[in-house]
Amino acid sequence: MGVRQGSVEGLDVIVDPGFWAGKQVFLTGHTGFKGSWLSLWLSEMKAKVTGYALSPPTDPSLYERAKISQDLNSHIADINDLARLTSAVKDAKPEIIIHMAAQPLVRESYAQPVETYQTNVMGTMHLLEAARACGGVRSIVIVTTDKCYENKEWPWGYRENDHLGGYDPYSSSKACAEILTAAYRSSYFHPEKYAQHRTALASGRAGNVIGGGDWAKDRLIPDCIAAYLRKEEVIIRNPRATRPWQHVLEPLSGYLCLAQHLYSSVDFAKAYNFGPEDKDVRTVSSVVQQLFSALGRPGGVKVEASANQPHEAGILKLDCSLAHTDLGWSPVWGLDQTLSKIAQWVKVDESGGDVRAITLEQIREYASIRAAG
Ligand SMILES: NC(=O)c1ccc[n+]([C@@H]2O[C@H](COP(=O)([O-])OP(=O)(O)OC[C@H]3O[C@@H](n4cnc5c(N)ncnc54)[C@H](O)[C@@H]3O)[C@@H](O)[C@H]2O)c1
Repeated sequence: MGVRQGSVEGLDVIVDPGFWAGKQVFLTGHTGFKGSWLSLWLSEMKAKVTGYALSPPTDPSLYERAKISQDLNSHIADINDLARLTSAVKDAKPEIIIHMAAQPLVRESYAQPVETYQTNVMGTMHLLEAARACGGVRSIVIVTTDKCYENKEWPWGYRENDHLGGYDPYSSSKACAEILTAAYRSSYFHPEKYAQHRTALASGRAGNVIGGGDWAKDRLIPDCIAAYLRKEEVIIRNPRATRPWQHVLEPLSGYLCLAQHLYSSVDFAKAYNFGPEDKDVRTVSSVVQQLFSALGRPGGVKVEASANQPHEAGILKLDCSLAHTDLGWSPVWGLDQTLSKIAQWVKVDESGGDVRAITLEQIREYASIRAAG
């Protein structure tokens, strides 16, 4: 089951522009950091994208700065509004759905647990209900996170069949979204009944995603860049915390690859990890130092006292053997290259350059590696 096949639409190349050209795609969370990059990439491949999300969660935002609204049919609306969501999905008649809308911040989830569970769990259910009501959807990818696993603070990477968990509301809400996705798969989109429903439903669990165009609160790279621009020292919380860092285009390529596979075969209807290689699972302090050196202006670091901070995991790593074996997916940009791409992006922005152009340039460069298979 699930071993890579050849010569079937969408299975020969990791991200196949020929597959995506003309495909109707429904993307939630298109106004966010990852959603803006993905919207631009899909539009570059000539997919017909309908986006559904609240207004951009930050100001500035990549969505506004890169003029993403010109690339798609955008609904600015709440995922918790089931009637509106269902009507938007029905109007779009998508063949492929990628669900990324979420409250994605751990600290914010401590402050706003109800909203976090509402959006991340019920929002996912609403999306799946809308897909059921619409019919005709062939691939659904639900985006969760590496934080959905019960964190045992061990040095090994989590596998897809490890226990789900989540200490804080964000992580736990994403574990709930995983359980919900599995229940919808067995109840409504069961692989054994594929001939009747023709929908393949999977989830993608990615690591810590970094790249140009992220202005989110309490995230390491945006905090470093803001400190760099203000010529101040950056305040970090857990210098020794170890995370699977990866460029935003890496998990996006994983979601696209997975959606392509689901389009042709229900064998891939399961959960997949998309993370970096082991060598790129590094501490916060080493990433900060390396980013400052890529920016060419070494910055100071101040460590925030830990006493009043909410709990966050110490070490987190993903085992991506399944994505490699089933989908042929593995990361292509290591952390060194990722940090230099971020520095390049920041320099363009700092000098008042065209952020849409630099975002597209990085997508094209990355996509050419992926298109080569
Ligand atoms: N950034 C990371 O490091 C990372 C890592 C792993 C997984 N993820 C997941 O990837 C997805 C995208 O993350 P991001 O970093 O781009 O986040 P983001 O905050 O930049 O974007 C979130 C998107 O969700 C939308 N949204 C939030 N609440 C909504 C609601 N009630 N109704 C409709 N839309 C709503 C926002 O408008 C925005 O478009 C999320 O599901 C997140 O959990 C992110």
